[in-house]
Amino acid sequence: MNLPNLEKARTRNKGKTIINKNDYIIPEEVKKIGKGKTYHILTYGCQMNVHDSENIKAILEDMQYKFEESIDKADVIVLNTCAIRENAHNKVMGNLGRIKHLKESRPDIITIFCGCMAQEESITEELKEKYKWVDIVMGTHNIHKLPYYFKELINDNKQKIEVFSIEGEVYEGIPVKRDSKYKAWVNIMYGCDKFCTYCIVPYTRGKQRSRMPEDIIKEVQELVKDNYQEVTLLGQNVNAYGKDLDINYTMSNLLEDVSKTGIKRIRFVTSHPWDFTDEMIETIKKYDNIMPYIHLPIQSGSDNILKKMNRRYTIKEYTTLFNKIKKAIPNVSISTDIIVGFPNETDEDFQKTLDIVNKLKFDLAYTFIYSPRIGTPASKIKDSIDMKTKKKRLAKLNELINKYAYENNLKYQNKITEVLIEAESEKKGKYMGYTDTMKLVNVKCTKKYLGKIVKVKINDIKTWSMDGVIADD
Ligand code: 5AD
Ligand code: SF4
Repeated sequence: MNLPNLEKARTRNKGKTIINKNDYIIPEEVKKIGKGKTYHILTYGCQMNVHDSENIKAILEDMQYKFEESIDKADVIVLNTCAIRENAHNKVMGNLGRIKHLKESRPDIITIFCGCMAQEESITEELKEKYKWVDIVMGTHNIHKLPYYFKELINDNKQKIEVFSIEGEVYEGIPVKRDSKYKAWVNIMYGCDKFCTYCIVPYTRGKQRSRMPEDIIKEVQELVKDNYQEVTLLGQNVNAYGKDLDINYTMSNLLEDVSKTGIKRIRFVTSHPWDFTDEMIETIKKYDNIMPYIHLPIQSGSDNILKKMNRRYTIKEYTTLFNKIKKAIPNVSISTDIIVGFPNETDEDFQKTLDIVNKLKFDLAYTFIYSPRIGTPASKIKDSIDMKTKKKRLAKLNELINKYAYENNLKYQNKITEVLIEAESEKKGKYMGYTDTMKLVNVKCTKKYLGKIVKVKINDIKTWSMDGVIADD
């Protein structure tokens, strides 16, 4: 049994990235373990987790399990968890109660707890003591080992807690069962070395490590062959891509090479303002299939708070970068993340956040109340700001964010724009998709447009979406 350790994670080495190509093996004993049986998976959190779930699904299907819509009927239940804020944590713990009941009525079901929460020391201790009925607890670095844990489980029927703390390697050749036939997530790197003081990710996802360019390009080439229209290159901090590889190859080089595969649309998340180079801006501008959309978290409008967050930039530097991107890339849209209520954030600090939003007028912003995470430096700061004040600040900020989201969308009224139609919309008779600039559009059309990039005329504007009709016909 391996337990994680946050202290050790902080002192991890920054050595060269190790790439493993042959570590995904299904032991003979479990090759058919899922025959006639089913699995259900609950996924919380970011795209990285969503993509990990796509790997877990494929691994389970390699052992012959089939997907089951209803959690109540499944023979294997996977809880892929998120640790970023307390509310994500609470939702997971609530669901654990529900799964406990299922396990009581059907003791032979197999329960798996994985994702970022599994990397937290306090959680694994709790699972060991209070949730002994959870069969497999697996961290974020060792998903490919799942078949082995099944094998051990059938041998001894004892709880497995397999979480690596300091490890951070790259594993190639893990299968994937993609949720969409048209757009795909592609990991380009794992982990994060930025250590923003509020954030649990550098501990739960390990050190920053990049995949080799040729492995990424090959994956995208296969997606092109399979008629995929869009890839999103995934990493906690994609601009730092390649820095750990010693091959003198940057995110800008990668974007260029992915562009040359001919895939119709390329997106990438998340960018940290620290590593965003001029070469990257030039590359995005140069290639039509690199989408003019950038998610650039600012987190706060106050230099004082940014310093305490260890964000490594000032508002002046962020603004310079923002303006440079806006100037260079026509029609670009920029979204951001903002945290309110960081420990001891003053009214003046918060006002500076409102000021920068008024100045930069983001297309979209994901806003959060600061949530202390055990083990992070910020969680040790004594905070004098009460929750009521934080909630008021969030509401005020959201009002402003919504105003600019709507105003930015207004520019699209009666215009023709390209949308990749990806699924049926919740609205009857409509299909949904995104513009190149990542605006959600509900399009009045038929099924035949699914998976196609079509010209759409926008005829109604809302804060979070727009409506449109096909302009090609
Ligand atoms: N509390 C609130 N928000 C957080 N984020 C990360 N950690 C925390 C935390 N402890 C936000 C940041 C980040 C986004 C993914 O989640 O804004 O960019
Ligand atoms: Fe967390 Fe900062 Fe790394 Fe983003 S860059 S994952 S906020 S530590």
